This record gives sequence, C-alpha cells and structure tokens, in this order.
Amino acid sequence: MQFHFSAPSLPKSGSLVILAGKGGKLGSFGEELDKILDGGITRAFKCNRFNGENGQFLDIIAPNHGRLNRVLVAGTGKASELDHHSFERLGGSIVARLGCSGEKNLNVLIDLGDDLEIKPHEAAAHVAIGAKLRSYRFDKYRTKEGADKKPSLTKFSVLTKSSGRAETLFESHSPVLDGVFFTRDLVSEPANVLFPKSFAERLQGLSELGVDVEVLNEQQMKEMGMGALLGVAQGSDHEPQMVIMRYQGVGSSDEFPLAFVGKGVTFDTGGISIKPAAGMEQMKWDMGGAGAVSGIMHALAARKAHANVVGIVGLVENMPSAKAQRPGDVVTSMSGQTIEVINTDAEGRLVLADALTYVQNTFSPKTVIDLATLTGAMIISLGNEHAGCFTNDDGLAEALLSAGQKSGDKLWRFPVSPAYDKLINTPIADMKNVGPRGAGSITAAQFLQRFIDDGVKWAHLDIAGTVWAEADAPLWEKGGTGFGVRVLDQYVRDEFEK
Ligand code: BES
Ligand code: MN
Ligand code: ZN
Repeated sequence: MQFHFSAPSLPKSGSLVILAGKGGKLGSFGEELDKILDGGITRAFKCNRFNGENGQFLDIIAPNHGRLNRVLVAGTGKASELDHHSFERLGGSIVARLGCSGEKNLNVLIDLGDDLEIKPHEAAAHVAIGAKLRSYRFDKYRTKEGADKKPSLTKFSVLTKSSGRAETLFESHSPVLDGVFFTRDLVSEPANVLFPKSFAERLQGLSELGVDVEVLNEQQMKEMGMGALLGVAQGSDHEPQMVIMRYQGVGSSDEFPLAFVGKGVTFDTGGISIKPAAGMEQMKWDMGGAGAVSGIMHALAARKAHANVVGIVGLVENMPSAKAQRPGDVVTSMSGQTIEVINTDAEGRLVLADALTYVQNTFSPKTVIDLATLTGAMIISLGNEHAGCFTNDDGLAEALLSAGQKSGDKLWRFPVSPAYDKLINTPIADMKNVGPRGAGSITAAQFLQRFIDDGVKWAHLDIAGTVWAEADAPLWEKGGTGFGVRVLDQYVRDEFEK
C-alpha cells in the first residue's frame, strides 16, 4: 500500500472517508459534499442513528458525486478529546473495514478544524501510521484464499492542509513500522520453519541495512562457558545460536552505551517439566523478545538513528528428550554462578542469564534492556494491555514508561527488592530457577538481576501478554503485534537523540 499526502479537495473517484464529530458535526468539506448530495449525508445520519460517536461508521455506497465508489463517514466523538492514539486507531479501523473491500484507492479527508487539541499534521500522520500497521497480514501459508478475499487497497491518500509536515512525520515513523513488521514476521512463523539456525540466517539480512551481524554457534558458546543457555538447548536437535547485532549510528564513537537483549526460545514445550497440550502451539511465539530486539535493530538502522546500539538474542529450542536437562540438574552460567534447575519450563531466564553476561563482558553498556515472554504470571496480572517493567533505576523506569505512553506499547512498573530476591536461594547452588507460587514474574526478574553488573542500569520487560493477539484490533489482525519495537524506538529518540 502506498501512502500519499495532499491538500484537501473532494476526490471524484475511489472511495472517500470523511470525519464527523459529536452529534454528526461535519467539517467544511463534509458540508460541501452534503450540499452536492442534496443533504444525502445528513439524511443518512438520521436514517441510521449515526451521531458521530467515536468508533461509529456509516457507509454510503455509490453516492451521486463524480465516480466515487463510496463515502465512509467515520465518527470521532468530541474532537477536543482526540490524541494521536485515537487517530492511529481511526486509520487502522478504516483499513480493517475497507482493506479487502475491493476498493483500491482510498482518500481520507481530515478537516476537523480548530477543535483539535493535537496539531493537524500529527492527526494526519497518525491516521496513516495506524493504516499501515493494520495493513499487515501474515498470509504466506494460505494457499486457497480466493482473490476476492485478498487485500485490494493499493493507495491510501490523506488529504490535509498541512500535508507537507504530515508526510515528513509519517516518513520518520514508517521505517519503524517496517521494523514492527519484521518482528511480526518472526513471531508468526511456526517453529518447524523458524528454529535457532533459520532465525539467525534471517538476521543476517539486517546487514543490508548496515547492521553488523555476528553469530555464535554451540561450540563457541561452550568455550565461553554458557552452561545455563546450553542446558536448555541440550534436549533439542536444533543447534542453539546467539546473534549479536551492532548498529553504529554515531560514527565517531566505538562505544555501545545501550544494549537490548531478547529471549529467543523458538519453541517452548517446557522440556521434561512438560507443558499441557492445550494451547501449547502458542509457544512458537516464545521468541517474542528476540523478535522485538530484531525489529528494533531493523527500525533503528532503517531510519538511520543517531545512536550506537547493540542487540543480542539467545536462540534455543526447549524440548524433552533423552538428552534433555532434568529437574534438579545444576548448571554453571557464564558468570560463574551456579543454578539449580528446579523446573525445566523456567528456561527463558537461563537463556537470558548468559546473554546478559556476554553483552556486559563484551560491550560494557551503561544501560541494558531485556525483553522476554518470561512468565505466564504476567498475563494473570496485566492481561494484554501493558507489559511489565522491572528495573533497578528510577530514571530508566520513568523514561521507559513515558516512551510506552507515547508509542502505545504500554508498560507498567513492578517492584524488585531483596525480599523477593531471597526467594530463589537454594542450599545446593547459588540460586534456583524458580521461586514459590506467588510473585512469579517478580522472582523471574530477580533471577535476571543476579546477572547484572554493579552500576549497570537495567530494565526487564516481561512481554508475555502483549506479543500475541487472540483477536483482531484496530492496529493488528489476530497474530503477532510487534510489541516492543515502538517503545524502544521512542526511548532511543527521547534519550539518545535529543
Ligand atoms: N514461555 C513461558 C511463559 C509464557 C507462558 C509466555 C504463557 C507466554 C504465555 C515460560 O518459559 C514459562 O514456561 N514460564 C513458567 C515459569 C514457571 C515454571 C515458574 C510459567 O510461567 O508457568
Ligand atoms: Mn517455559
Ligand atoms: Zn518460555
């Protein structure tokens, strides 16, 4: 789908979307069209109880104006209450309605005028951002879908007075959305196609964008003593991989002050502590943290961000087999700390432990942010609206939560403290990989914190509830959401590019 921005005018072909505020209040172009149509729009409002509420739509097919296929009136509610998220949802909802309608050419007229709280060019750009996000589909395995069910929209034009500024803003975000799509592609892929080696191969493609990609194989990880990660991988026939992606947007510096680390369990059966059958297919997206880290590296490189960032993903498959690790096994991590593996299903933290040690030893970053589908308990506490944010630094918490608000990838802070930390002590080793039943997401975070060096600012984002959507929504179809890419991009803009 191509995006265009131009000055408002009434198009004579394709379809036209106009906005109506509370009570069905039309903008100046809407009023003009209503006159041309002999009051047909306002009459349609009455016939269909349309009052311009936010989220309400009214479809007027083949109106008597030029060769317009339809006028779709989108209710916005009170214009003064709309923020950029409202306009993203609006753009997304329009694509959800018309994306596969047969229409190719869509014009969205933004003429809400003076009532708007946000700048008109922001409203226009975010309509296009929402539309682009909702246009993504993962349909490569649908071989029997009829041509009449496939997406038809090829041109999405936003008509607005400040079209130049809107286009500039959209262009600065569009590469980030390509990063979101890269993440969605990875998250959606089934585990027979996406396993550690094939995942690593896909990441090699990032070198075309200027990302330096390095892959560690099993032998190299053995030599470095990554016993925690390798213990998880040992039950699988798939060789584990660790991928290091370096993006250097500040040529004058060789330092990497910021590191992103992702859990990449390409399939999580639970291992010997095997999961129940119901819903286990979902564990193909247990690499959502690695997917988000890959997507943010894609985004930063594509938009040529002015920051040096390293992204690391630990890629393993967690399988039961005669070679698999057992409950009670003790493994030695790269940090030298030993871990009693009480439950082989608490594998993500084992993978992250060695990735965290590696990234700190190699790059000495000041800030480390890890992303992981780490605990089912996260979904119990926050559902699918927010991801959990655990951090040892209040400033980092503030920056991340604010970036979350702005970007729409919302975060909610959880506590970490010594009282929770002691719950993972065990007599036989330095720690065990699970705590008691309560506070499961927090004890998982405490486990990770034991692998963070003194003085390093660290945040852990538990994205178990936000990586995958079970239902269609304004910004995505059922499937991978791409969560994490937009909040990290916003964080880099706010903290490294200002
Ligand atoms: N990948 C799961 C967490 C998960 C569950 C993510 C459901 C998304 C949806 C993780 O590896 C896991 O199995 N965690 C266990 C930890 C437990 C054994 C302490 C869990 O949450 O049950
Ligand atoms: Mn698990
Ligand atoms: Zn897992």
